[in-house]
Parts: sequence; C-alpha cells; structure tokens
Amino acid sequence: MEKRETFTSKIGFVMACIGSAIGLGNIWMFPYRLGRYGGAAFLIPYLLFVLILGTTGLMAEFSFGRRFKGGSMYGIITVFQQKKKRGGKFWGALPAIGLAGVFIFYNIVVGWILKYLFMSITGDLKEIDKANYFHEFAGTSASIPWNIFAILLTVVIISCGVTKGIERISKIIMPALFIIFILLAIRSLSLPGAAEGVRFLLEPKWEYLKEVDTWVMALGQAFFTVSINGCGMVVYGSYLKREYDIPRLSLATAVLDTLAAILASFVIMPAVFAFHVDVNTGPPLLFMTMPSIFDKMPGGFLVAIVFFISLLFAAISSSINMLEGVTEAVITNYKVPRKKAAVAIGLILALLSAPLNLDMRAFDNFTNFITIVVSPLMVVLVLIVYFYMHDSKDALQEINQGSKIRFGKGFLVFAKYVFLAVTVLVVILGVVYGGIG
Ligand code: ALA
Repeated sequence: MEKRETFTSKIGFVMACIGSAIGLGNIWMFPYRLGRYGGAAFLIPYLLFVLILGTTGLMAEFSFGRRFKGGSMYGIITVFQQKKKRGGKFWGALPAIGLAGVFIFYNIVVGWILKYLFMSITGDLKEIDKANYFHEFAGTSASIPWNIFAILLTVVIISCGVTKGIERISKIIMPALFIIFILLAIRSLSLPGAAEGVRFLLEPKWEYLKEVDTWVMALGQAFFTVSINGCGMVVYGSYLKREYDIPRLSLATAVLDTLAAILASFVIMPAVFAFHVDVNTGPPLLFMTMPSIFDKMPGGFLVAIVFFISLLFAAISSSINMLEGVTEAVITNYKVPRKKAAVAIGLILALLSAPLNLDMRAFDNFTNFITIVVSPLMVVLVLIVYFYMHDSKDALQEINQGSKIRFGKGFLVFAKYVFLAVTVLVVILGVVYGGIG
C-alpha cells in the first residue's frame, strides 16, 4: 500500500481547495445573478450564506476526511463497521459515484473550452457564426475528442499524486487565474460604456431583498460554489495535517472563491454592456456572447485567448478535485495503485461520457439530476454518518484540532440541525425551481 500523502503547506491546500471551488459557477452564473437579483444588495444574502453555510459545510467535509484519514467511502465504511452495521460499502460508494457524475458532465464542458481555446489561437473563432457554430459542435460527435483530451489532462495530473500533481499545479494555475482575471477586468472596465455594466452589478436594488427568489438563488449559489458534495472536499481534508486550522482554511476557501466570482463579474458584465449584447448565463454566455464581443473589441484576438485560458484553469482545477475524489476511493478501499486507478477510471468515465456528448437534452437532464438531487443528498449522507452515527463530540474535537477558535456545542447544534435542514431544503428548492446551483 502506498504511503498516504499530505499537502506540504497551508497555501498548497488552500490553492487546491479554491481550485475546486472556483469553476464555471463563478463565471457563468454568479455575475448574472449578482446583477439580476439586486446588484450589491444580492451580496447580503450571498455573503451570509457562503460565510456561514459554506464554511460549515467545508469544516464538516475537511474534518471528516482528516478524522478518518480517507475519503468519504473509507470514513463511511469505518463508521458502519464501528457501529456493527451492514451496508457500509454501498453507502460509502455513493458519494464517489455522485462525484463521478459531476466529473462526466463537467469535462464535457472542459472539452468545449479546449476547443474554443484552440480556435481562438488559430483565429478560427473570429470566422465562425457564433450562435450556429456552438449548436453544430456541442451535442455532436465532434465534441468527443475534446472531451477525451480534457479527461486525459486531468488523469495525467492525478497520476502525479497529491503533492507533485494536485498541489503543484494548483499553486501555479490559481494565482495565474487571479492575475488573468484582474487583467481582463481592467480591459473590460476600460471599454467605452462599461460603466453601465458596473452599475448593473453594484447599484443596490434593495427591493430585491423582499423577493424569495433572491434568497433562493443566493442560497443555491453559495452552496454549490464551495464544492460541497460529500466527497471532493472530504478527500482534500484527508490529506490535511493535524496541526492545520480547519475553520480558518475553510473561511479562506470561501472568501477567495467569492473574490474570484466578483472579479469574474467585472470581466464579463462591463464588456456585455459596453457592446449592448443580451445579459445571459451558462454555455451561451461563454461560447456565443463572449466570442461575439471579442470580435468587436480592439485587441479581441488576444483577449479571447487569455479568456479561454482562464476558463480552462478555473474548470480543470475543479475537475482535478472530482477525479481525485473518485480515484482516492478506489486507491484506499481497493488497494489499487494510483496511476492504474486514475487511468482506469478516466477510461471508464470517458466511455460513459460519450453518449452525453451526442445529445444535449440528455446532457442537460443528467447535469440537472446530479447537481439538483445527487450532490446535495451526498452532503446529507455524510452529515448523518459523521454527526449522528459517529460520535458528534469527536467530530467537534477534530474540527477544533489545530484551530485558534474553539467551537462549542452551539456549532454542533447548528451543523446537526440547521445546516442539515438547509441541505435538505437545497434539494427541495432545486427540484421546485429546476435548479438553483
Ligand atoms: N464549484 C465549482 C464551480 O463553481 C465546481 O464550477
């Protein structure tokens, strides 16, 4: 059995965690929601949720991983064994399978990003009909090679291990991502007419705080952006040294993730308003709206390349966490060497991804099912196993281990009742609204 690695520094850990947290959600969803649900006023519910619920979720997941020195599968199996209950392997496998589902749809998008990055470098991006091209490409077999390329990149990084792969790459690409965002934001803000976009983002429209939708969207955004899904952050927590301060690291992850989302807003919205294009979200924003803006922008050729590089960094660092979550489950529980596990899982997930590359409706349904139902339910599972089946005082001790602030019983009550109830609410609201994350 290979020796279990740990992150070598706090900064390495935080870079890996924000790598996981900062992703497409920060770029294609947050800017729109910030403007649409009240501008600066939206920040009140959002910050409230991300700083309280987001950090609670991270503290629970990091400490669960560190307590059992393993991912959620190992932790769940151990707790079931201690309690002499059957079914540990079944329940333990679920979070990793759920995360494999996230990896599948996410890497289809990473494939699109790679294709658009390539086209921006060759100059083809300028030539295509932006609206039609995306529909001719996504949802067809043309996207499969790019999807495989995306999976391959992640497999290579994961094969290199925690220190030499995940930590090293995160320490390079995450600071680079922030620098790129700042440069792109400066470019976007310097466009004539950009002020309108700034007003859209920042002018507080307090009346939105009276609307339920504002709070629901802020909750969904806060919950999904920090990547709590019962597996990925548990695995990163399992590589954490005992003396590290989990509450502080959780807060750092939530704060830097929020900062990235705000920066992304200043990359996107000033440009959208300067060129009078429709404000939108999701794939149409990244693969139609933004490329059409680059066409009209002085220096747009270079800006397009840098923009797609930033998307790649944001997305691949999240994808790394997803594949690590699945790979670790196999390494730890089935004693398979890391490289073999990463390659085999990459291959299986590439095969499973193929049909979703061919049908956008299937892609959408699958994505919704995973994000709305599976991911938050896996958080519920981990919370129940950790705080109810296992000894909750022991969980509290693990959270306090290395922490400057001592959390007391009040935190346990909050985590066991309020946070758990909100997580269930996230599932229900997701179903009712057709997705809030
Ligand atoms: N939290 C990551 C994102 O926002 C997965 O895309």
